[in-house]
Formats: sequence, C-alpha cells, structure tokens
Amino acid sequence: MKRRKRPVKLAIIGTGGMANAHAERFAKVEGCQIVAACDVDIERAKAFSEKHRIPKAYASAEEMIVKSKCEAVTIVTPDPYHKPLSIQCLEAGLHVLCEKPLAVTYPDARKMVAAAKKAGTINMVNLSYRDWPALQAVACLVQSGGIGEVRHVEASYLQAWLASKIWGDWRTTPAWLWRLSSQHGSKGVLGDVGVHIVDFATFPVGPISSVYCRLKAFNKAPKNRIGEYTLDANDSAVLNVEFANGALGTIHTTRWCGGHANRLFLKIAGTLGTVEIDSDRSTTSYRICSGENLDTGIWTEVESSETPNNYQRFIDGILTRTNDQPDFARGAAVQKVLDACFVSDAEKRPVKI
Ligand SMILES: NC(=O)c1ccc[n+]([C@@H]2O[C@H](COP(=O)([O-])OP(=O)(O)OC[C@H]3O[C@@H](n4cnc5c(N)ncnc54)[C@H](O)[C@@H]3O)[C@@H](O)[C@H]2O)c1
Repeated sequence: MKRRKRPVKLAIIGTGGMANAHAERFAKVEGCQIVAACDVDIERAKAFSEKHRIPKAYASAEEMIVKSKCEAVTIVTPDPYHKPLSIQCLEAGLHVLCEKPLAVTYPDARKMVAAAKKAGTINMVNLSYRDWPALQAVACLVQSGGIGEVRHVEASYLQAWLASKIWGDWRTTPAWLWRLSSQHGSKGVLGDVGVHIVDFATFPVGPISSVYCRLKAFNKAPKNRIGEYTLDANDSAVLNVEFANGALGTIHTTRWCGGHANRLFLKIAGTLGTVEIDSDRSTTSYRICSGENLDTGIWTEVESSETPNNYQRFIDGILTRTNDQPDFARGAAVQKVLDACFVSDAEKRPVKI
C-alpha cells in the first residue's frame, strides 16, 4: 500500500486524565507529529502542553482548528462533547479519533457517522481494548470457526473505584463525579465501560439481537448528592443477551467490585471448544480447552502476536487512506445496544436490537 511520507499533524482536544495516554501513545507513533492541544481550561492546556512538549496550547477547538493547521484531531473531552466536537472537526475536513463512548445516544452517534461519511476523512473510536493481542487473536479464532458454533458467552468488566480509593477519592474528584451524574452527561457505568465490554464480547461473537437489562444506582452520599453533582447514573448493569447467531450470554459491569481495579473477563463456549480471556491474568495470552482436551478438561495457554494499537491504526489509516476498525459505524452499533439497555431497564422487558 502506498504510504505518504509527510507526518500527520495531530491536535488533542481536552487535556484531562485520559489525554495523557493519548499524548504518550501518539508521541511513539511513527509518522505522527503532535502540533497543538486545547482545553476550555486554558491553564490546564498550557501545563499539559509543557509536560508533553506540545508547541501550542489553545482555549477552544475552534481557535485551534484555524490557527494550528492540524489535519487530524483526537477528542478526549467528557462524553457529551464528543458529538458537537466531532461534527465540527469533520466539517472542517479533519480526520477524527474520538474517545468512547462515541456519543451519548444512538441517534447522536448516527449523526456522527453521517458527518464522517460526508467528510470522507478517517474516523475511529477509541475502543481501547482492541489494543490487546489476546482479544484480536480470540476474535480471529472464533470468527474462523475455531471453537465451532458459539453457544454461550460470559463477559464482565469490573472496577473498584466506588468501593475503594484505588484511583483516588471519587467523592472529591470532578473527573469521577461527572461520571456519576446524568446531568453532567454521564450514562453511568454502562455508558462509561459497558461500552467496552459490549464491544469486547461482540467483536469475536457477532452482534446482539436482543437484550434484557437491569441497571442500578446505589445510594452513595446524603440525598445522593455531592455539591453540584446528583449521583443518579447507574453504578451496576446486568445484561441477559441473545446473539444473532443464536448464542445466549450474560454481560455485566460494576464500579463496586473491590479487589479488581479494572478487570475484563470473557469466556466464549462453542461446540468444539471454549476460550477465555482474563485481563487480571494476561492481556497478551488467552486460554483454550478444545479438541481432545475437551474430554479431560485440560486448558492450554496461547500467547498472541503483537497488534497495532488504535493510535497507530488511526495514523496508519491517514497515511495509507484506509479506514481501519473500530470506526464511527462500529461505535454507533455498540451505542444502539446501550440505548436498548435503557429502554429494557425502564420498561422491564427484553428489547430487540
Ligand atoms: N478509552 C478508554 O479506555 C478511556 C479511558 C478513560 C477515559 N476515556 C474517555 O475519555 C474522555 C475524557 O475522560 P477523562 O477521564 O480524561 O476526563 P477528564 O474530566 O479528566 O478530562 C476532560 C477534559 O476535557 C476538557 N473539556 C471539556 N469540554 C471541552 C471542550 N468543549 N473543549 C475542550 N476541552 C474540553 C475538560 O476541561 C477536561 O480537562 C471521556 O469521554 C472518557 O469516557 C476513555
């Protein structure tokens, strides 16, 4: 494939916690030059730019797009700003990597997909566990029939930060408090990391055809309120799902699981074998019980080959003019499942996707 020689001039929108990972990862990608960063808090943008040796800091995306001459952006703001900023950047003809969740609702996500199609630029959503070699290898294996017909799926994403101070005190930290408040655009644990585990399960297994979901926000403070934040967004989500291929599964996630800072687990059982990823054990290898081992229940560990991360895929996509996965359309497909979960919980019934 013909590859452009000139480096991609990239700018970062939003310079909070996760933006540090973007700056560090993009700095390591060959063919990428970070030219600017912006944040509505200009002091934060300046400190961030100094820390990561980024030449320019701006107080708004608008100003940065005009002045920095960037050709690509990575959007790392809180969730409600993903849609307006993505559309603004796409309309300016820029390539866009957007943090997950792509949007706050499926209709919004569809508008972003339409804007990306119209712009014709590279679009990706940072479903970051695609970076794990174990997931890429398991997806390849399952999609090629390596465990036969899929019958059963067990997937979970467990975090501990509400039950501990493992990532600091959420009661006093705005970056955690906005994630607990629907007024601040949060869709709770389901929107925050449920989006990851739905992608993690459906990437290898294929789409979900129906979901029956329970969501719960537990009481966490007097009147469930801290300062300007009403703590009403869900902390736990449990999904019973059926996949389009007929398999049944459970997908669940919570922020209340002390002992697991950030654990993703996936077990896929098929007619010819079962595979398992447990991130507390490894993200580069998976376990499998298949073939003649099925009769003895013996599991073997398989080391997976390296895979490019989303940051690399995004820059490579620009340099070679090919849109890699996960793209905006994929982000929207996952969002559709999340929207169905909210309907299912509210109406206490299974919802077809
Ligand atoms: N892919 C992952 O694994 C992963 C991990 C963590 C966070 N995230 C996502 O990254 C995003 C940011 O999360 P975070 O933890 O960094 O949040 P954060 O609150 O630490 O930082 C967000 C920053 O965006 C700035 N901001 C808000 N509106 C803006 C605007 N219109 N223009 C420019 N800057 C603006 C804020 O001032 C803040 O500095 C969220 O969407 C979150 O879901 C993804």
